[in-house]
Amino acid sequence: MVFYPNVMQLPNPGVTLLALETSCDETAAALYDQRGLIGHLVRSQEARHAAFGGVVPELASRDHARDLLPLIERLFLETGVGLGDLTAVAATAGPGLPGALHVAHALGGSLAFARDIPFLGIHHLEAHVFSGGLGSERLEPPFVALIVSGGHTELVEVLGLGSYRLLGATRDDAAGEAFDKAAILLGLPYPGGAALSRLARGGRAERYRLPRPMLDQPGSEMSFSGLKTAFLYALKALPEPTPPDRADLACAFEAAVVEVLVEKSFRALMQTGHRVLVVCGGVSANERLRRELSDRGVAAAIRVVFPPLEFCTDNAAMIAHVAWLRFHAGERPRGAVPVRTRWGLESLTPPGARD
Ligand code: KG4
Ligand code: ZN
Repeated sequence: MVFYPNVMQLPNPGVTLLALETSCDETAAALYDQRGLIGHLVRSQEARHAAFGGVVPELASRDHARDLLPLIERLFLETGVGLGDLTAVAATAGPGLPGALHVAHALGGSLAFARDIPFLGIHHLEAHVFSGGLGSERLEPPFVALIVSGGHTELVEVLGLGSYRLLGATRDDAAGEAFDKAAILLGLPYPGGAALSRLARGGRAERYRLPRPMLDQPGSEMSFSGLKTAFLYALKALPEPTPPDRADLACAFEAAVVEVLVEKSFRALMQTGHRVLVVCGGVSANERLRRELSDRGVAAAIRVVFPPLEFCTDNAAMIAHVAWLRFHAGERPRGAVPVRTRWGLESLTPPGARD
């Protein structure tokens, strides 16, 4: 059995929480108790959707429905925890793909109903925001969070659990989406963010100068669709791109996205006066982003926190962690917990303040 170190070593023996995540193309389950994360499993559907160049919602829902129960059974087997040990269940309630969300939500809700234990509906982005607390570092608000995933790119002021102020977001493509689209143009399989980043390692960033959209404008708003178009034209200008050409272009693209994210994040820190930046979501696994934010953090005396790599992309450990924080802060939902496919972080309230 794997035990994960956790910041929240709160004494409350006897509470064991099962968390489920199926908001997009990862089927995931995690178990959490007073010692922290007991174990977690993720089954990625990446290969399933690769041929389509993006997630096909109906296929995602079907695979979640097929895979979630066996995944929970395996988690029980590997951790030695049983259905009878559970004292709470949590599932991602939004935002995400409607059919996909309903799988974990329905299964989690049914389990909780059958066992007569509380069921918590968790906001996927709130879980990403607090995933930095799944490592060995202590994470206490207030701080600024840079959420960079395939579906979202947002800078958020985190004043407390459930208390958020949106500072700025992308006006078009999310950073991860831009990475994935550029990767497809380079012939890399979907989702190609990590593959593009590996290709970029052998490239020279200075050969191509791609635009840094909206850097010349104040504030935390971002945009990545123009960068993708500039990338397309630079690629098209090469009749037969060689491997070094492709690496140079990948490197230039990555450098442009990272520079925008770093600049906008530090402007948000200046604007709010916070001294801690938490970076989360799938793109927070990007090496260049981690390196440049860390270097800038050292220079500016800002603490930059990243989730451990295994918790950057979608997982249920982060759902369990935030559900645990909310449960311990007294959250006991009454009545039905709705699924919300569109759900702004700012509409959340601190634990106990919502039903
Ligand atoms: O958070 P996540 O797993 O799913 C969403 O909620 O969207 O993020 C997935 C995104 C994809 O766009 C993927 O290409 C990107 O994160 N990604 C990366 C890297 N690893 C994952 N992008 C750039 N560099 C990486 N190393
Ligand atoms: Zn996510």
